[in-house]
Amino acid sequence: MATKLSVNINKIATLRNSRGGDNPSVLKAAIDCQRFGADGITVHPRPDERHIRYSDVREIKPIITTEFNIEGNPLEDKFVDLVLETLPTQVTLVPDDPGQLTSNHGWDTIGKADYLKRIIAVFKNAGIRVSIFVDPVAELVTAAADTGTDRVELYTEAYAKQYHINKDAAIFDYIKAANAAAAKGLGLNAGHDLDLHNLKFFASSIPNLEEVSIGHALISDAIYYGLENTIQLYKRQLL
Ligand code: PXP
Repeated sequence: MATKLSVNINKIATLRNSRGGDNPSVLKAAIDCQRFGADGITVHPRPDERHIRYSDVREIKPIITTEFNIEGNPLEDKFVDLVLETLPTQVTLVPDDPGQLTSNHGWDTIGKADYLKRIIAVFKNAGIRVSIFVDPVAELVTAAADTGTDRVELYTEAYAKQYHINKDAAIFDYIKAANAAAAKGLGLNAGHDLDLHNLKFFASSIPNLEEVSIGHALISDAIYYGLENTIQLYKRQLL
């Protein structure tokens, strides 16, 4: 099975918000990403709504024909309520601080095990698939299995940074983490800083990779190649 490509459309919202109004439209972007071959749409609402707004998430939900993935920190009741109301295919729990530029670490699945168990049960009881963002550390992935999560999303920034220096060294911890996930029967996603250069090697080195979610690089590439071509280019890296 080819790894699924979920397109994170937060950057479309960032561009829109820079001028007010509705150009570019995130709703149209979600429709078009699916039309152009995306296997899913990812949104990451943050409490200050500086990218995707809570109202965008509600507006997008009815047009989803693929998989809808909502990412965010469940510490805010607002986030939990939004997810329970819109019932996405998957919720990805991310321990990002409210004002953080972008996600920069995964969960401490050992220290926060009780908290994660409680909050994951809330989403699972609503029939939503749960994934949690983790650093590529086999012990943290193994511990994630005890939280009740369905999947883990490996945080790929470290891989992306090292890829150009030494790709075999860059992927090493990720293969160990992926094996740990497989040994525990956990599904596996990945994301952050994946791009047209580093994606193919990552996906082909990790056979149990089910989904990647990609935003920044893909939307930036779309400026040069167009959204349809870009989505197809990314999908080709995952075959
Ligand atoms: N996964 C998570 C948990 C994220 O927070 C983000 C960024 O919002 C991504 C994936 C996508 O990262 P990028 O925009 O670098 O592709």
